[in-house]
Amino acid sequence: MSGKIVISGAGGQLGQLVAQELKSRGVVDGVTLASRDPSKIAALGFKTARADFDDAASLAAAYQGADVVLILSGDAPNEVRTPQHYRAIDAAKAAGVKRIVYTSFTNATYDSLFDFAKSHTDTEAYLKKSGLAYTVLRNNQYIENLNSGIAHAKDAGVLAQPGATGKVAYLRRADVAAALVGAILGTGHEGKVYEITGPKAYDLFEIAAILTETTGRKVEAVDADPQQYGAMLSGFGLPDFLVKALLGIHAAGAAGEMNLVSGDAEKLAGRKIVSLEEHLRGE
Ligand SMILES: NC(=O)c1ccc[n+]([C@@H]2O[C@H](COP(=O)([O-])OP(=O)(O)OC[C@H]3O[C@@H](n4cnc5c(N)ncnc54)[C@H](OP(=O)(O)O)[C@@H]3O)[C@@H](O)[C@H]2O)c1
Repeated sequence: MSGKIVISGAGGQLGQLVAQELKSRGVVDGVTLASRDPSKIAALGFKTARADFDDAASLAAAYQGADVVLILSGDAPNEVRTPQHYRAIDAAKAAGVKRIVYTSFTNATYDSLFDFAKSHTDTEAYLKKSGLAYTVLRNNQYIENLNSGIAHAKDAGVLAQPGATGKVAYLRRADVAAALVGAILGTGHEGKVYEITGPKAYDLFEIAAILTETTGRKVEAVDADPQQYGAMLSGFGLPDFLVKALLGIHAAGAAGEMNLVSGDAEKLAGRKIVSLEEHLRGE
């Protein structure tokens, strides 16, 4: 597509990968990277703007004249983040934006055991009601969510998480970014909800077995007690809402909420999506 594109939340990890993916496809002109702190992303070589979900005027200015705005979901507790998303959608509508692409999450339903699913459910509903064209990408868990657990497992030989039996179709952040860019640049994505997943779902025991092979040391998976695990996260200084969300994500995984495997990411990205096993084997 031609036209103006705004990446709202370009300063985050996923946002920066979206910018890099756009650049690698030669799409720089007409793209604005918007962030609470544009100085963080100035070096990426795009036009930048300030956009803060808590400052409607900044959103109105940043989104003005855009054909497509990618709204990357925020990181605050639900009661803050949901109105932030509504503010961004309202600003896009007032600015005459033609289509919004939004990063939702796997199984965005009120029944989900993952607390942030409620915010994604509400945001999706608000988006659909807005009358704007939209494309929703329901992203499964990033492979990178496992990084600290895997680093510990390599040292200690133990990979511990609650909900160990749940299978999750993890994928790399960079592959999510490639799918998002496909949704932004492609045609025919209006009114679509895509399931962005890795090509295979894994439980913690399977991950430990792969690590045992790839590291050459025995890694044992442990189905951690949620209360003890939550206390450990609180001990690391995580705020209560995040501890609740992380315990919820593991409970949701165990309940089978994240085991769906879909080809949507590959279709949107136009290339192969790396599985967790391939990632761990360094492919
Ligand atoms: N699928 C998963 O496994 C998973 C894991 C973690 C998070 N997520 C969700 O996916 C999003 C992107 O992931 P990430 O890894 O890139 O997270 P991240 O690095 O923590 O980035 C946080 C994102 O939230 C935006 N944000 C926060 N407060 C904002 C505000 N007041 N106004 C505007 N933007 C605000 C940031 O934009 P700026 O910094 O540019 O202002 C940035 O895009 C997260 O925010 C979260 O909703 C998904």
